[in-house]
Amino acid sequence: MRVIICENYEEVSKEAAKLVAGLVNLKPDCILGLATGSTPVGMYNNLIELYKKGELDFSQVKSFNLDEYYPIAKSNENSYDYFMNDVLFEHINIKKENINIPNGEAKDADKECKEYEEKLNASGGVDLQILGIGVNGHIGFNEPDENLIAVTHKTGLTESTIEANARFFESKDQVPTMALTMGIASILKSKKIVLLANGKAKHNAVKALLNDEITTSNPATMLKVHNDVVLICDKEAYNG
Ligand code: PGA
Repeated sequence: MRVIICENYEEVSKEAAKLVAGLVNLKPDCILGLATGSTPVGMYNNLIELYKKGELDFSQVKSFNLDEYYPIAKSNENSYDYFMNDVLFEHINIKKENINIPNGEAKDADKECKEYEEKLNASGGVDLQILGIGVNGHIGFNEPDENLIAVTHKTGLTESTIEANARFFESKDQVPTMALTMGIASILKSKKIVLLANGKAKHNAVKALLNDEITTSNPATMLKVHNDVVLICDKEAYNG
């Protein structure tokens, strides 16, 4: 795993945007794997700025998002569908039909997950997957557990994730308790992975990424089997 240690969050966001922009310029019809949460927002802002300056064109780019709450209406401000439009998609020229996010409105969650995985496979695979990391080491909504699920699936959220995400909702009991998420193998199929982490709260999760152990109690450690992962973190996440 290549590690880029940055001074602060702004620098993390710039470095990550540079990698994404480099790929989009090299391969205009690339497939980006995108993530929600507060971490990638700075990177999205940088990408929007580059697009507005005429330095980036997303017209042929396709995207697959990692996850979505379940069940949730797309119009709900806390849905990841709404979030992605708000922080990125409506500010750039990506085509609506090229955007893929697990459908939190699907009646049959298992069918939706199966179809999402099939679409992901049929696309030829994500060229570059952006990941955040949970304080508990989750990636997507692959939460620490005895067994992890390889493919896109419906899952329950852990108490620590519900607590971490409660800041976006009026109260903790409004946080959905289920989600649809790409599995560990779906994520590992990406050709390149860029994991972003900032702040002291992520230090333990980052530390586990950098030792030699792989454990299902920290799903991000599974990334150690992939041969093209870049961790971009700030000093606080790196040093604690
Ligand atoms: P955050 O979430 O970026 O809001 O810290 C990351 C994650 O839970 O994957």
